[in-house]
Amino acid sequence: MSSNKASVHGQWSSRLAYILAATGAAVGLGNIWKFPYIVGENGGGAFVLVYLVCILLIGIPVMMAEVMIGKRGRKSPSNAVRALIAEAKAKPFWRLTAWMGVTAGFLILSFYAVIAGWAFAYIFKAGSGEFVGKDAAQIGEMFGNFISNPHELMFWSFLILAMTGVVVAKGVQKGIEKAVGYAMPAMFILLIVIAIYAAKYGDFAQAFNFMFAPDFSKLTINGVLEALGHAFFTLSLASGVMMMYGAYLPKETSIFKSSIWIAIADTVVALIAGLAIFPIVFGNNMEAGAGPGLIFQTLPIAFGQMPMGILFGTVFFVMLVFAAFTSAIALIESSVAWLVERYSFRRWQAAMISTTVLWLLGVGTIYSFTEASWTQFTIFPEQKTFFDNLDYLTSKLLLPLGGLMIAVFVGWVVDKKVAKEEIDLNEKAFKLWHFVLSYVAPIAIIYVFLHLIGLA
Ligand code: TRP
Repeated sequence: MSSNKASVHGQWSSRLAYILAATGAAVGLGNIWKFPYIVGENGGGAFVLVYLVCILLIGIPVMMAEVMIGKRGRKSPSNAVRALIAEAKAKPFWRLTAWMGVTAGFLILSFYAVIAGWAFAYIFKAGSGEFVGKDAAQIGEMFGNFISNPHELMFWSFLILAMTGVVVAKGVQKGIEKAVGYAMPAMFILLIVIAIYAAKYGDFAQAFNFMFAPDFSKLTINGVLEALGHAFFTLSLASGVMMMYGAYLPKETSIFKSSIWIAIADTVVALIAGLAIFPIVFGNNMEAGAGPGLIFQTLPIAFGQMPMGILFGTVFFVMLVFAAFTSAIALIESSVAWLVERYSFRRWQAAMISTTVLWLLGVGTIYSFTEASWTQFTIFPEQKTFFDNLDYLTSKLLLPLGGLMIAVFVGWVVDKKVAKEEIDLNEKAFKLWHFVLSYVAPIAIIYVFLHLIGLA
C-alpha cells in the first residue's frame, strides 16, 4: 500500500491550504474562550508552563502520529486505522483508536456549536450597545436570562451548524479550503486589533505577570491533568480530525514541518488571546477565575465601560465566531466522510444528517443551563451539569486516553518502516520522535491518570 493515491473525498490544493485548515481546526473556542478561563482558575503562570510542556513533549509527537495514520490510510479515521491494522496484521482492538476519537469529536461538537451560538448572539448584543453602562450584576443577569432561554439558544446553535453543514457539503477544496481561507486571516487580524486595544486601555503589566510568572503553589494535580487534556483539545488531537485532514495531505507535504507550524500558530493565538483578555479583566478590577462565563460575563462589563467599547466588543465576538466556525467545520468533516464511505451518501446528505444529530445532542448542553433535571446531573466527580460531564468526559478522559492509544498504536503496533516512510525525518530525529511516542508520551499520560485516582 502506498499513500500516493488521493482520498475519494479529494485533497488539499497546497501545503498552505492544509496548514490553514488544520490551524483553523486547532484555533477555536479552546484558545479564546477556554484557555483564558482555565488559566484563571488554575492560578496563571505555573499552569501555562505545564501546558506549554504538554504541547511540546506530547502534543506535537502525537499530532504527527495522527496525521501519519490519516495520510497512510487516505480515508476517514475508522477506515484509515483499519488499513493500518491490516498492514501491521494487528488485532481489531486497535480500531478503538479511531472510534474513541470520532466519538470524542462528535460529543465535543455538540456543545461546541452551543457555545459558538452564544458568541454569535453576543455579536448583536455588543453591537447594539446592550453592555453600555451596565454593572456586573446587570451583565450577569443579562447572561443569565440569555442562557435560560432554550429556544433562542437552539436557534443560534442551529445557525452555526447550518453554516458548517453548507461549507462541508461543498467538499474539501470548494468548501473547507475556501471558508478557512477567508475566516482564518480575518480572525487573526481582528485578534491583533483587540490585543492592541487591550494593551492600550487595560492593565497589560499585571496580565503579563499573571500569565508568565509561575507560582507552583497554585498548581494542583487536577490542574496538570487539565493542562494535558487542554493540550489535546486545543491542538484538536484525538478527535479524529488530524487523521481526517491528514488523509487529504499531498504526498510531498512534510508531516513534521506542518505539525510544528500548526502547533506554533495555535499556541501563539492562545497566548495572544490571554494577553488580550486579562489586561481588560485586570484593568477593570475583575476576577480572572470567573470560569466559563469569563468572556461572556466579565468582558462585557469591561466593554460597557471602556472607550469605543461597542466597536471593540463587537469585533471581539466576530473574531470568536470566525475561530469557532473553522473548528466546527473540521469537527464535522470526519463524520461526514465516514457516512460517505460507509453508506455511500452524497456529501450534502451526510452533512444534513450529521448537523441534525448534532443539533439535537446540543439540546442537552442547552438545558444544562436551565432545566433542573439537566443541571443536577453528576456522573463524574464534582461535575454538576450535563455540559460539565460532557466536558469532563471528552477533555479529561477521552482525549488523553485517545492520545495514549494513538501513541501506543503508532509507537508499538505500526511497523517502524511504515512510520518512517511517512514521517520525513532523518535517522536521529526519527528515533527521538519514535522514542517519545513509545515511552515518554504514554508514561506521562498514565502517570497523570494514576495520580488523579490516587495511585501514584
Ligand atoms: N481545537 C479546538 C479549539 O481549540 C477544539 C477541538 C477539539 C476541535 N477537537 C477538535 C476542533 C477537533 C476541530 C476538530 O477550540
